Amino acid sequence: MKEFKDKVLVVTGGGRGIGRAIAVEAAKRGMKCVVNDIDGDAARSVVAELKALGTEAVAQEADISLYENIEALLKLTLDTFGRVDILCNNAGCAVSGPIWELPKRDIDWIAELNFLSHIYGMKVFIPQMIKQGTPCEIINTESTAGLMTSGKATMYHCTKAAGVAASESVYMGLKEHGYPITVHCLVPAYVKTTIHLADLHRPERYKMNDDPYYTSEEYKAGQIRSERGVMSGIEDWYVGEAVFTAIEDEKFYIFTHPESQVIAQGRVQRLASGVNPMLG
Ligand SMILES: NC(=O)c1ccc[n+]([C@@H]2O[C@H](COP(=O)([O-])OP(=O)(O)OC[C@H]3O[C@@H](n4cnc5c(N)ncnc54)[C@H](O)[C@@H]3O)[C@@H](O)[C@H]2O)c1
Repeated sequence: MKEFKDKVLVVTGGGRGIGRAIAVEAAKRGMKCVVNDIDGDAARSVVAELKALGTEAVAQEADISLYENIEALLKLTLDTFGRVDILCNNAGCAVSGPIWELPKRDIDWIAELNFLSHIYGMKVFIPQMIKQGTPCEIINTESTAGLMTSGKATMYHCTKAAGVAASESVYMGLKEHGYPITVHCLVPAYVKTTIHLADLHRPERYKMNDDPYYTSEEYKAGQIRSERGVMSGIEDWYVGEAVFTAIEDEKFYIFTHPESQVIAQGRVQRLASGVNPMLG
């Protein structure tokens, strides 16, 4: 896709960070935007920002890890703008800590938001894109964490690796069927956003409770690691620009950090040689 003017972009978790940056780049190119976020004030504030840039935009305040809210997002998009051209499955959270110590609620929260909501997004929006018959793009925000593993943030690695696999598989399936729909896999490393504060945006059913894990040293260390990483990252506007460059250049993987390819190569080498990950 090279022409964006008057086309429609939908972004989940668009109230701040990478989602907001993508929406701003879309608006600069004359796209109309639908901005989902569980934080309604954040979504509405981005919509005001996009309107100030001269485009039409609408907000959806909803937890996008619930299937019915993704169906409602499609309905809002069609009722408002009549079509969809770019879907960004972007909303996500970060959870640190080893699986055996994490409360089950955290495992479910991150699996539903980081992985299932991206699958649900494709499941709900692709039939509309097929019906339209127009060239469409899907951007799945995954992570360099999906190309590597570590003993920390295990669930984050798991969900992002699953998202990478889903992006590749859906891309291939769409091409095999000859549909003019392209999937892109956005794999940033650290970006200066507020993802280390993801606990503030938990859906009601996953709110933190009195589980001792949330006052443990393990939890606190994870929070510190996450904040330090994010603060060392690149600016989010760079990611927004990279997304549109990749769409124009028809790139499947959107690498925003040069080190990502080296990380991916290291993993492939370990896979090929059967080396213990700790030694690789
Ligand atoms: N920041 C990084 O270093 C980094 C690196 C790689 C990948 N990512 C990925 O980028 C994506 C965006 O994260 P970010 O860094 O911009 O974080 P962010 O926390 O700044 O923004 C995420 C937005 O998603 C919203 N959100 C959270 N739960 C939601 C839900 N259930 N439904 C709808 N919206 C919800 C939040 O309110 C927030 O506005 C995530 O998928 C994340 O995993 C981030």
